[in-house]
Amino acid sequence: MATHDLLYEGKAKKVWATAEPHEVAMEFKDDATAHNGLKRGQIRDKGRVNARITALLLDFLGTQGLPTHFIRQMDDRTLLVRQLDMIPLEVIVRNVVAGSLHARTGIAEGTALASPLVEVYYKSDALGDPLFNDEHVALVQAASPEELARMKDMARSVNHHLQSFLLPRKLILVDFKLEFGRVGSALVLGDEITPDTCRLWDADTGQKLDKDRFRQDLGGVEDAYHEVLRRVER
Ligand code: TMP
Repeated sequence: MATHDLLYEGKAKKVWATAEPHEVAMEFKDDATAHNGLKRGQIRDKGRVNARITALLLDFLGTQGLPTHFIRQMDDRTLLVRQLDMIPLEVIVRNVVAGSLHARTGIAEGTALASPLVEVYYKSDALGDPLFNDEHVALVQAASPEELARMKDMARSVNHHLQSFLLPRKLILVDFKLEFGRVGSALVLGDEITPDTCRLWDADTGQKLDKDRFRQDLGGVEDAYHEVLRRVER
């Protein structure tokens, strides 16, 4: 790996070039940040656990007919993925009120939504990733109206399939974030799916098994990530 260029380093991942021009290696780090980078730390073994969870969930979504960037797992904490022309939007799907939806609406955390709520945020560190409506997306030309509609449809479909995978494993999918990219004119899901980017609650106890344990200093962070992997693996 050291012989290839580091293309990008983010808060939780590094992306490396590979010998193949349209394939990149996505390395998951143990580093964790929260509250727009104000809280920083490490979650022991997170890189390995998140790489494995993402590999299993993207593989599953592939079997359900959803196009993803996943090719194969390369090592403990590295996945080989297709290189995409990334769209600077985050699509969030919510089934239960938590986090910023609670803060924005005042509706109690834990309130189940009658139908999934889809939100779009503009990826911009300088602007603090603002919530966008369709007209804002068109204004900044982040995606065409057709692409935006397709991204939302795909996100709803991912939600449906992930819920059907996770609920038998006693995990409630509260909400999650997705990013998409283009390969030619096709849209492809190009993201991790992990306890960093999803809220997952134990179906029996409601216990939080995701990054909120780190964000809210609840303790038991490593154990929660390991528990999610254990359930996803079975
Ligand atoms: P929020 O309630 O803070 O808006 O987060 C909703 C979900 O999206 C939650 O599962 C965490 C995930 N998320 C990310 O993965 N990255 C982000 O930058 C944000 C804002 C949320």
